[in-house]
Amino acid sequence: MRRNADEVVQDTGWVFNNVTGSALTLEQFVATGNAEVDVYLNRFGWSEMPPSMSILEIGSGIGRMTAALTRQFHSVFASDVDAAFLERCRETVSRFGDVTALRTVHIADGSSVHLEDNSVDLVFSYITLQHCKASDALRLTSEATRVAKPGGWIALNYRTYVPADAVLLPAGALMRVLWNVPVVGPKLSQWRWSTRLGWQANRLNPRRVLNLLETSRVEFDELVILHHPGRPASQATFMGEPVRQRDLDVANKSHWWLLARCR
Ligand SMILES: C[S@@+](CC[C@H](N)C(=O)[O-])C[C@H]1O[C@@H](n2cnc3c(N)ncnc32)[C@H](O)[C@@H]1O
Repeated sequence: MRRNADEVVQDTGWVFNNVTGSALTLEQFVATGNAEVDVYLNRFGWSEMPPSMSILEIGSGIGRMTAALTRQFHSVFASDVDAAFLERCRETVSRFGDVTALRTVHIADGSSVHLEDNSVDLVFSYITLQHCKASDALRLTSEATRVAKPGGWIALNYRTYVPADAVLLPAGALMRVLWNVPVVGPKLSQWRWSTRLGWQANRLNPRRVLNLLETSRVEFDELVILHHPGRPASQATFMGEPVRQRDLDVANKSHWWLLARCR
């Protein structure tokens, strides 16, 4: 019997998958990551990038997508706030990817990536920046631009507001309170729906992220916001210029991506 949500996550990695149900093996779990890596690399135009390129994954979790990234690139930095997930990530990559390509980077304080400035070609982050404090997500965004080489690309995924948040946000806050209630809390935390509801941490719209980047005077050669078809972000500007927006067929309605080439 699992006692709490942390144990459920450690056993199953359930909350790390937005798509599939609760009864899946690690192999099936990684298969969802393989498919998503294929799709996103294709949509970002990264499929044809040379394998010699290095890539940083911010929020690798237990390596669902990392395994596929190590088959595509010779140098993959998997980073996460949770050191135990990084160990699991190494195991996952050993089984399903190329572990010789893997380096792990512990984001111990939740916001600092211990890599040199201008040291990686690509930075990728999926369903992670919504799971930390907004201030950490913004700091990690700056870190992505710091470690990316000039000419390197970043693709960062955020969650923004949707009408359902009027219910979801207060329900999530209530769930986090209930987890601490004796008897009820331990029972609730065994359910996947409860963990997903309680762990939706932040919403960031493009304007907030772009404001941060403007303030830190980051420069880009290309900058585009990707969003669910038919759900464009309200007009956003960067350094006084409108930011290009593009439909991304596979984007969740509540998600958007910042795709940029650093100068
Ligand atoms: C939903 S999982 C996604 C994992 C992986 N990207 C995937 O798609 O399978 C979110 C991950 O973000 C990590 N995370 C949460 N806050 C973080 C932070 N401040 N810095 C780095 N990683 C963080 C969690 O530990 C978890 O592994």
